[in-house]
Amino acid sequence: ETICALFCVILTSDLYLTLIMEQSFALSSELTKAERYGEFLRQFEALVEGIDDEISVMANASAALREAFGFFWVGFYRVKGNELVLGPFQGSVACYRIKHGRGVCGTAWAQGQTVVVPDVEQFPGHIACSSLSRSEIVVPIFSAGENPEVRSVLDIDSEHYATFDDTDRCYLEELAAILSRTLY
Ligand code: SME
Repeated sequence: ETICALFCVILTSDLYLTLIMEQSFALSSELTKAERYGEFLRQFEALVEGIDDEISVMANASAALREAFGFFWVGFYRVKGNELVLGPFQGSVACYRIKHGRGVCGTAWAQGQTVVVPDVEQFPGHIACSSLSRSEIVVPIFSAGENPEVRSVLDIDSEHYATFDDTDRCYLEELAAILSRTLY
């Protein structure tokens, strides 16, 4: 009987954990963009607290961003040697490897800065993974501590021109800081 009761407690707590994990990132359309990002970051911090696996966190970050903002393509490239290598993403298939300094992603890595591109056709060397992509933002994610280095980049594409502005830059850099603290 004791063993059975114990088993029930374990089962119940497991169910409870499953239920609290059922978190929706669909945000009210009444909110301004800044308010949406604010709510997003609050929920996201709770979602990744204590999770240090890079693939898991990047996979959920991609899914959450796509659900909250409906982005056309959202995902990560990770630094491996002198290249960026495709990581978890949401959207259509993408190129596997990008060299340092190439394309929007490689430029953000080389400069150690966010790159906002209102029209991808005007960006020299832009790498077109989808012909539907019109504008793009790439945010570097740094190692934590002294002498920070770019460890990965967050890449978001839109099928509309000039989707990303300083509000996106500001809040996505905050997201990158959370990812940096959580992962590196
Ligand atoms: N456009 C990017 C390549 C990655 S895809 O957009 C997913 C670039 O120019 O680096």
